[in-house]
Amino acid sequence: MIVLGIETSCDETAAAVVRRGPDGRGTILSNVVLSQVDEHAVFGGVVPEIAARAHVAALDRIVAAAMHEAGIGFSDLDAVAATAGPGLIGGLIVGLTTAKAIALAANKPLLAVNHLEGHALTARLTDGLDFPYLLLLVSGGHTQLLLVSDVGLYRRWGTTIDDALGEAFDKTAKLLSLPYPGGPAVERAAAGGDPRRFSLPRPMLGRPGSDFSFSGLKTALRQEAEGAAPLSDQDVADLCAAFQAAVTDVVRDRVGRAMDRFRIEHGEVAQPALVVAGGVAANRAIRAGLEDEGAGRGFRLVAPPPKLCTDNGAMIAWAGIERFSRGLVDGFDAPARPRWPLDSLSEPAYGAGRKGAKA
Ligand code: KG4
Ligand code: ZN
Repeated sequence: MIVLGIETSCDETAAAVVRRGPDGRGTILSNVVLSQVDEHAVFGGVVPEIAARAHVAALDRIVAAAMHEAGIGFSDLDAVAATAGPGLIGGLIVGLTTAKAIALAANKPLLAVNHLEGHALTARLTDGLDFPYLLLLVSGGHTQLLLVSDVGLYRRWGTTIDDALGEAFDKTAKLLSLPYPGGPAVERAAAGGDPRRFSLPRPMLGRPGSDFSFSGLKTALRQEAEGAAPLSDQDVADLCAAFQAAVTDVVRDRVGRAMDRFRIEHGEVAQPALVVAGGVAANRAIRAGLEDEGAGRGFRLVAPPPKLCTDNGAMIAWAGIERFSRGLVDGFDAPARPRWPLDSLSEPAYGAGRKGAKA
């Protein structure tokens, strides 16, 4: 089975071709990602209208490149998949409409994929993971702890009640005049800092459940920064180190609780896995903290390579394959859905809007 996947929900224009063999394992035949980060950097964040226009300008070329690299034509495809949500409406319409056009012209089924499902199932493409497993999705727009039980069967065990973790990194960077996107810049600065010089709170630490909150931390950081102003490079490094240490402690605590719950509810799973995905999963301090937290509980950490952790077309093609092989296809009237929770059964968390541009 060969599927083309298109991803345009935020500021990456991406297309990929993925094949699933008879053994059920996936092979990425091509994976082309064009980042618009330079176009948005001057504004310090993603500008939806600029993103939508950039997708229009680039997508045909990116799809052609993915098909060329895979060495196939549209007639060789079994289906065409595109992100239908959640994300920025302009970009979603560009990608989904393009997928519909290709599917219609080549007479192939259409797969309207939930972007979060793409992230959730990536570990099955990269590591052939069996259900069920725990997923920590931490990106610019999302902070979610999910129980992944099957294709289409997700339970949200935790989410943020205010800022997403990537958003907290980005805001910290902005406050300290570090470049956008903030996560890598904060991590770099933190490497030369003393995490103990400034004391920052650990919101939600020790609370029941696995929800997150980062806005109090942001306020505390601002107060510390104002108190130390004007900031030297060392001050900035120390503040970044304090911030990174605080969020790592919080993530360890929240995920540790979810691991305990998984153990209780899924005692049959001999070697459970925690999958981390999303841009923040690239952070080495957080990764090391999670590895450590999991080791004591018999969990192994599965972290897809960074290229497949951040937004890409291969994860959409693969989610499409997983759905298609279960007989799930979509009509040509499938709408773009800016908001589209993966777990529609869980109550929305108090105050948890999808605030970042990214999903
Ligand atoms: O998954 P992603 O590329 O896009 C989506 O949000 O879907 O994630 C981007 C987010 C940004 O907020 C960025 O600052 C953060 O991931 N990020 C990091 C690191 N690299 C990227 N945060 C912390 N440490 C990093 N090394
Ligand atoms: Zn994403």
